[in-house]
Amino acid sequence: MKTSTPQPIHLKNYQPAPYLIKTVYLDVSLHSSETRVTSRLKIVPNKRATKSAKGGSKAGSKSVPLTLDGENITLENIKIGGRALDAKQYSVDEKSLTIKSPPTKSFTLEITTICDPEANKALSGLYRSSGVYCTQCEAEGFRRITYFLDRPDVLATYKVRIEADKATTPILLSNGNLIESGKADDAGRHFAVWQDPHPKPCYLFALVGGDLALKKSSFKTKSGRKVDLRIYVEPGKEDRCDWAMDCLKRSMKWDEKRFGREYDLDIFNIVAVSDFNMGAMENKSLNVFNDRLVLATPDTATDGSYEAIESVIAHEYFHNWTGNRITCRDWFQLCLKEGLTVFRDQEFTMDERSRTVARIEDVRMLKAHQFPEDAGPLAHPVRPASYIEINNFYTATVYQKGAELCRMIHTILGEAGFRAGMDLYFDRHDGEAATVEDFIKSFEDANKVDFSQFKLWYEQAGTPELIASFDYDETKKTAKLIFEQVMQPTPGQSRKKPMHIPVRMGLVGKSGKDLPLKTKQGDVVTDGVVHLKKRREVFEFQNINERPVPSLVRGFSAPVNLTLDMTTSDLAFLMANDSDLYNRWQASQTYATRRIIEMVEGLRAGKRLNRGKHFSEALAITITDEKLEPAYRALCMELPSEADVARVIGTDVDPGAIHKARQAFAKRVATDLKETLKGIYKSSSGNGDYAPDAKSAGLRSLRNSALLLLSKIGGEEQIKMLGTHYRSSKNLTDRSLALMLLVDFKHDERDKALANFYKRYKNDHLVIDKWFSIQAMSSAKSTLNSVKKLLDHELFSIKNPNKVRSLIGVFAGFNSTGFHRADGAGYNFVAEQVLDIDSFNPQVASRMLNSFRNWRTLEAGRQKLARKALQRVARRKTLSPDVYEIVTKMLG
Ligand code: BES
Ligand code: ZN
Repeated sequence: MKTSTPQPIHLKNYQPAPYLIKTVYLDVSLHSSETRVTSRLKIVPNKRATKSAKGGSKAGSKSVPLTLDGENITLENIKIGGRALDAKQYSVDEKSLTIKSPPTKSFTLEITTICDPEANKALSGLYRSSGVYCTQCEAEGFRRITYFLDRPDVLATYKVRIEADKATTPILLSNGNLIESGKADDAGRHFAVWQDPHPKPCYLFALVGGDLALKKSSFKTKSGRKVDLRIYVEPGKEDRCDWAMDCLKRSMKWDEKRFGREYDLDIFNIVAVSDFNMGAMENKSLNVFNDRLVLATPDTATDGSYEAIESVIAHEYFHNWTGNRITCRDWFQLCLKEGLTVFRDQEFTMDERSRTVARIEDVRMLKAHQFPEDAGPLAHPVRPASYIEINNFYTATVYQKGAELCRMIHTILGEAGFRAGMDLYFDRHDGEAATVEDFIKSFEDANKVDFSQFKLWYEQAGTPELIASFDYDETKKTAKLIFEQVMQPTPGQSRKKPMHIPVRMGLVGKSGKDLPLKTKQGDVVTDGVVHLKKRREVFEFQNINERPVPSLVRGFSAPVNLTLDMTTSDLAFLMANDSDLYNRWQASQTYATRRIIEMVEGLRAGKRLNRGKHFSEALAITITDEKLEPAYRALCMELPSEADVARVIGTDVDPGAIHKARQAFAKRVATDLKETLKGIYKSSSGNGDYAPDAKSAGLRSLRNSALLLLSKIGGEEQIKMLGTHYRSSKNLTDRSLALMLLVDFKHDERDKALANFYKRYKNDHLVIDKWFSIQAMSSAKSTLNSVKKLLDHELFSIKNPNKVRSLIGVFAGFNSTGFHRADGAGYNFVAEQVLDIDSFNPQVASRMLNSFRNWRTLEAGRQKLARKALQRVARRKTLSPDVYEIVTKMLG
């Protein structure tokens, strides 16, 4: 908790640690409320630490104090070289332990501390969840286990002895290889010793102890080594791990093929736990997962969950090379492992599934989460320059925009150039703690290019606006494109330099084919990518014999906001003809958004608008085109979300009007296309067994998207259809979609389905999370009251992050009518919950505040109410640094 005002840490003040820790021996004696940890560290002065922070003497020549991080632990014993220190030789406070003058040569430090796993509800450090001991050390949780140099540039090898009660805790795991196990001296207790040969930072340490069942398999690496694969889960759930295991093997294979990276130990463990702050964690050879990202059967997981499991299993596995073998020098470099690993898991999904569909889904996420972040008070560069609480910087910007930067490097260099840069990066920095500079330099050196301008993407916050204009000269047969890049100021950055923006583009001729891009100088842009480097760039293409329609930023080749004046008939033309399927989809979104915004304006001016069937007719062409993948057609049927529309409107946002306008527009489109949609619904009804692969899932999503759109008509016929869909569903995908659509209606079918779903799944906590979410998402007026009531439901627990996210998080982040109620009750409710949760789990609390991040874009009335709710949070005297940082930046 905050005692004084938390202070920011700055990248520019980075100093190497004065000491390094070479080896760690940990002896952990697990007891639920009093766990004893003895650590024996081999410490050496760091030759690279040239000067101490105050410009004093060199470590190694004269003794420099050694300050170790530590939090929420009680010191029991401290020795150097086997001799106990006396009280004058060290000091301890809330956050650290300082040894005043340690030996000037290498020495052994032994420390014994006590911690309380049962009482740990922050779920950081060592905690006990449903009887299972587990650790979460990233970013700074290791200091809650023992005193340590808790920073990623201190790499050590670990040997860990774990001891516990054998009956309740039969499974004992840590990183690396099991080298010994047996009965302990104390009655009923046993032990295991694990050793990890790879030096690692302490955030990758993990320990698990509990009564767990396991699913075993193995993988043969490309050089012929056999790796034992094990997934540990709550007993009775072993049969729900097949998908996760399959995903793991495909990930291992893919990393060998696409990146030449082989796994480097003989064992790889995954443990699924039910109380976990995040999705999953890449601890060396012992990944710990939120169980929602491991367990799946057709009856208990949706296609969305199957897809999420695939990408998270892959993501954490890929960290073994991008994050573990090469780690980060400091937390400012977080995108070095996270952005890059997201890029890798995105590529994996694209190779395993459909490239276009995956790209659209990724861009949708980027625009839904990262763009608003970049446009609001929490905007920060992909590599931030300062932070108060690092946990607040596991953001959409670091992850998703970070991945986009890797993707742009790939676009600029091509697959071979990109791979050469990656190979050099692995070669040079294996076993090291690296920086963004090291990463960029590898691409520069491998390709003989200069990326100094490109590097600005890591330093400048905000989404560039790309303003394009297009002109066709009939007589000269030339097409002229003018681009201007405009960078709005963001907190702490008022003026910005122009950046290198790769724009993939085409000029689409009447036949639908791309015309050759021949520039004035006679060069042909063969890869379809033009490079913008100055604030204003002009391209003139020759020999263009007909007026083409420009298709810009194809495949979303750069994370920018493009504006280009286009007629609706040009948009409809691209929807039907663009060879770039991403831009076909984008054209339909742009078109629909334009219509919805007109309707919002109409509503606010008290006018009713009716614009004819043009959009519906254009959409019909795509969604009935059987040459296109079902999953793609399904995506095209999804109209832009209310949040998408709000983002494009940008200021004076009225979520109530947006909701009404979007509903009305959807109803209009559904009515226009009623027979078409019914046809799709009927023809794609799969009656075979459930299979989780992309193709089968695509068929289900086509059918479900048709149903979703049809439901917007909202008559008795459609509600009955939903009821039937619910009752005849044979998997959770169809069942939960029907339920989700039903909860928007006041109808018997809704109540029946909700009750049925509950009865069916009350023993399945993960599915019950969906039951909570579905209710929290309802656009019914009564939703806030239902959510408040559900807080007291016997299956709800405020201490469980999955429950909190399912109910409160979904309401705050995905129910724009409920959260943005005009009376401010939604804001007050979320503020209250944030304060409550902050008292025991600051990470979860601070994430929830995110739903307020664009409060300044709201219309005046709601803006005032949102500010009041935020001020209430800010006034609390005992805020965690996590919530303090977010709320003060938001109120700015
Ligand atoms: N290293 C993170 C987990 C993490 C995040 C630990 C924040 C501590 C604080 C892990 O690799 C990760 O990124 N997990 C994501 C899922 C991933 C697929 C984007 C998560 O947990 O949400
Ligand atoms: Zn990650």
